[in-house]
Amino acid sequence: MKKGYFVTLEGFEGSGKTTLAHKLYHIFLKNGFHALVTKEPGGTSAGDKIRKILLERENEGLGYKAELLLFAASRSENVRINIKPALEKGLIVICDRYFDSTIAYQGFGRGIDMDIIEYLNSIAIEGIIPDLTIFLDVDTEIGLKRATTLSKSTELRFEDEFLQKKEVNGKLFLERVRDGYYQIARQNPDRIKIIDANRDISLILKDIIGLIGTHLSLKYKKEVILNL
Ligand SMILES: Nc1ncnc2c1ncn2[C@@H]1O[C@H](COP(=O)(O)OP(=O)(O)OP(=O)(O)O)[C@@H](O)[C@H]1O
Ligand SMILES: [Mg+2]
Repeated sequence: MKKGYFVTLEGFEGSGKTTLAHKLYHIFLKNGFHALVTKEPGGTSAGDKIRKILLERENEGLGYKAELLLFAASRSENVRINIKPALEKGLIVICDRYFDSTIAYQGFGRGIDMDIIEYLNSIAIEGIIPDLTIFLDVDTEIGLKRATTLSKSTELRFEDEFLQKKEVNGKLFLERVRDGYYQIARQNPDRIKIIDANRDISLILKDIIGLIGTHLSLKYKKEVILNL
């Protein structure tokens, strides 16, 4: 059994995953926990190169199969180098996106066979399932607006596709991903908690901290209160 605690952040573009992952990391440190924050794709030297291929808008038109395999390769490296060793040492690990993103985007969104997605995920994750997954439920219009106007990021390949109102099998890519996330959350009610991410970031953070505090209290068999 792993000693650490693993929390992943999931949700549509602009739902606040990256912002919250870093805020959570600092809260854990402030409260005396050893923690690691990482992201997908990326988080390792090879993974960061893969991230550029996957997310930079200049790679528009990358094939779906190559996309799927690159995400899996990046995840495998992140688990092998960062996530698994940190959990074995007892750290709290926060990951900005994980395998649910592949199910939502490449499975539901692109329409790739779910058995293939599951198989690749199983190779990459080496049995490491999150203790808690926060699904940041943002209105897609609000999310895209935040991601394209507030964020300074140039990693906009997926945003571009969503804004082009691209269809896959007669349904918008954006709707397929969004609806996919709801299905994944419904299928995993114990692991995945849905948080309304349209609100002020301080309220979102308070809810997440409350959930994690409850989990850690159970894990360590004593009350854990995380101060903001
Ligand atoms: N609850 C919020 N209210 C207002 N602005 C927010 C909120 N959460 C995040 N933002 C802002 O929206 C922008 C996008 O947030 P962030 O990068 O954290 O989203 P993300 O979920 O990581 O997106 P992506 O999937 O594109 O990586 C940032 O400029 C961030 O400061
Ligand atoms: Mg992000």
